[in-house]
Amino acid sequence: MKRLFLKKTLESIQEEAFDETHSLRRSIGPVNLILLGVGVIIGAGIFVLTGQAAAQNAGPGIVISFLLSAVACGFSGLCYAEFASMLPIAGSAYTYAYATLGQFLAWIIGWDLILEYTLGATTVSIGWSGYFLSFLKDIGINFPAALSGPPFGFNPELHRWFLTGAFFNLPAVLLVAFVTVILVLGIRESAAVNAAVVFIKISIILAFIFVGIHYVKPALWHPLIPPNRGQFGLFGFSGVLRGAGVIFFAYIGFDAVSTLAQEAKNPKRDMPIGILGSLFICTVLYIVVALVLTGVVSYTKLNVPAPFAVALDAMKVYWFSPFLKIGAIAGLTSTVLVLLLGQSRIFFTMAKDRLLPKWAAKIHPRFRTPYVNTMLTGCVTAVAAALLPLGIVGEMVSIGTLLAFAIVCSGVLVLRYTRPDAKRVFRAPGGAATPVLGIISCLYLMASLPLDTWLRLIIWLVIGLVIYFTYGIKYAHAHLKKSKPPASATSRA
Ligand code: ALA
Repeated sequence: MKRLFLKKTLESIQEEAFDETHSLRRSIGPVNLILLGVGVIIGAGIFVLTGQAAAQNAGPGIVISFLLSAVACGFSGLCYAEFASMLPIAGSAYTYAYATLGQFLAWIIGWDLILEYTLGATTVSIGWSGYFLSFLKDIGINFPAALSGPPFGFNPELHRWFLTGAFFNLPAVLLVAFVTVILVLGIRESAAVNAAVVFIKISIILAFIFVGIHYVKPALWHPLIPPNRGQFGLFGFSGVLRGAGVIFFAYIGFDAVSTLAQEAKNPKRDMPIGILGSLFICTVLYIVVALVLTGVVSYTKLNVPAPFAVALDAMKVYWFSPFLKIGAIAGLTSTVLVLLLGQSRIFFTMAKDRLLPKWAAKIHPRFRTPYVNTMLTGCVTAVAAALLPLGIVGEMVSIGTLLAFAIVCSGVLVLRYTRPDAKRVFRAPGGAATPVLGIISCLYLMASLPLDTWLRLIIWLVIGLVIYFTYGIKYAHAHLKKSKPPASATSRA
C-alpha cells in the first residue's frame, strides 16, 4: 500500500532536470515557447467547434462562454506555471503529481494524459482532413469518398453506431505520418516549422477579423443570450455554460508548453512566460473572432464543419475562402505537431521512471529525440485517426484534460502545505484560492459532459490500473530504490 504513495523528491527531480549528460537539447527561448503554445492551442476548437457551440448552445453568448472557459483555464494555467517553474522537467503534469501526490496518482495522470495528447492529436487530424478535403473540392479535385472518413459513425441521439460506407480516413493518416517524421528529425526543426505555421495561422485569423469587422451588424448580437428552450444547455444561461464546456477544447494545449521544460534554455523564467503568454494571446483572439463571427452571420447558420467559410459567404467575400482554408489546414497541422511532441516527452519521462518500458526513453544518437516512442505514438494516432469519428474522440479529450488539470491544481495546493519552503520562481497569486478555484471549475466543466463520456473515461482508467498493477508498480519501485535522493531531500517532498 505504501508503494502507491511513494514520491519522487523535489530535489531529485530538479537534479534530473538539470542533468545534461543524457538529456534532450536545450534550444527553445521564450518567444518560441509562446509560439509553440499558440501553435497547439489554436486549432479545431476555434475553426470547427465555435460555430457549433454558438448555433446549438449559446448564440452570440458564445463570447461569454469563451470568457468563462478562459477563466477556468487561467486558474489551471497559473498552477501549471508555478509547477513548471519549480520542476522544469519534461513530464509535465505527470511529474508534478509524482512529486506531490505519489506514484499511483502520477501513473493515473500519465495514463490520462494520453487522452489529451494522443487522442487530441487524433481529433485535430480528423478536423484537418475535413478542411483539406473541402479545399481539394474548391480546386476541383474529388478525393475518393471511400478513403475520406472512418468506417463507423456514432449517432449520439440514438446511442447507435452505424456504417458510413467509407474504409478509412487517408488524409488524416498522411498528416500524422508527416508530423511524426518532423518530430523524429528534431526539436529545433520542429520549432522552426511550427513558427512558420503559427505565422500563417495568426495572419489568417487577423485577416478574418479585419475583413469581417466592416460587415458586422450589431443587431445580430441581440439578444446576446437567446432565451432558454426548456432544456439545460439549450440557450439561456445554461446554454452559455454548456458552450463553455464545449469550447474548452479550444484552449487545450497551453499545458503542452510545460512538457518542453527540459528543452527550454531558461525553464524557470520562460515556462510561466510560455504558458500564460500563449493562453492570453489566444483568449483575446478567440473573443474577438467570436464577436466578428456572430456579428456577420446569424448564429443559427453556424452549425456546420466550416463556420468561417459560412461567415465569408454571408459577407460575399468569396475570394478569401481558399486562403482561410489554407490557414486552417496550416493551423491544425501545428496543433497536431505540438500535441504529438508533448506526448512523446511524457512517455520519455515515464519510461525514465520505469513506469513504462525502458525503450520508450531511447534517444536517437544523432537527432537527440525520443524517436522510438515518437514513432509508436505516431502509429497509434494514425490508426485512431483513420478509424474513429470526431465527436467521440473530442469528448474523451475534454474529460481527460479536465481531470489532468484538476489533479495539477490539487498538486499545487498540497505542495503549498507540505513544502512551503521550496523555491518557487513563479508563485500563482491568491494563495490557496487559485488552485481551489481551478479544481472547482474543472470539475464543474467535467460534470457538464455526457454520461457516455464518463463511462468511457472509467473504462480507460480501469485499463490503466491493470497495466500499473501488473507492470509499472514493480519496475518503478525498484528504480526509485536504486536512485538515491540527495542527503538534503526528505520524504516530505
Ligand atoms: N486547442 C486545440 C484545438 O482547438 C486542441 O484544436
